[in-house]
Amino acid sequence: MSIRTYKGIKPTLAESCYIDESSVMVGDIECADHVSIWPLVAARGDVNYIKIGARSNVQDGSVLHVSRVSKENPKGHPLIIGEDVTVGHKCMLHGCELGNRILVGMGAIVMDGAIVEDDVFIGAGSLVPPNKRLESGYLYVGSPVKQARPLKDSERAFLKVSADNYVRLKNEYLEEV
Ligand SMILES: CC(C)(COP(=O)(O)OP(=O)(O)OC[C@H]1O[C@@H](n2cnc3c(N)ncnc32)[C@H](O)[C@@H]1OP(=O)(O)O)[C@@H](O)C(=O)NCCC(=O)NCCS
Repeated sequence: MSIRTYKGIKPTLAESCYIDESSVMVGDIECADHVSIWPLVAARGDVNYIKIGARSNVQDGSVLHVSRVSKENPKGHPLIIGEDVTVGHKCMLHGCELGNRILVGMGAIVMDGAIVEDDVFIGAGSLVPPNKRLESGYLYVGSPVKQARPLKDSERAFLKVSADNYVRLKNEYLEEV
């Protein structure tokens, strides 16, 4: 496992987290209870911080990074992921803020300053441009993303189901370790 200190700060990981041993976690990263980080995720909390809320999962090959503080942007762009968020395979989350119960489809890119409100579904392969705000309760698809339609009830329900499935899966993996 590669959990590394940067400038004296080491990732803070709740005991119930599953961090796959092939992932790389560096610096100021906080993972709340039951977070799971899957194979080959690279997360770098070096020039700003990363925070991942309870029961969220970041799937294989995803990259998490942040932007530094500057004169024009005194807070820089941390990466904040809320609770019960599913980040699909090979996503790129950079300096953005995700609320709760969100599904980021496989291969999606979310750029600096973007804000994704609670209960949003982002289609596979979508690109969310810098500073764009995605409104709660909608499906977004495309590059750049466009609001496609309101979520169906089944999709809204699935957001929590997906997070719960991953909590169960990581518990099985933890038993293997
Ligand atoms: C967008 C998504 C939710 C499907 O929504 P949907 O409304 O059921 O869409 P449909 O399959 O009925 O397709 C409707 C149209 O959207 C297009 N479409 C489907 N997924 C798309 C996507 N990700 N990006 C762009 N267009 C997409 C279809 O080709 C179709 O286009 P057409 O009308 O020109 O033929 C689904 O394709 C998706 O991207 N899911 C993400 C799954 C994922 O990555 N999970 C995480 C891994 S665990």
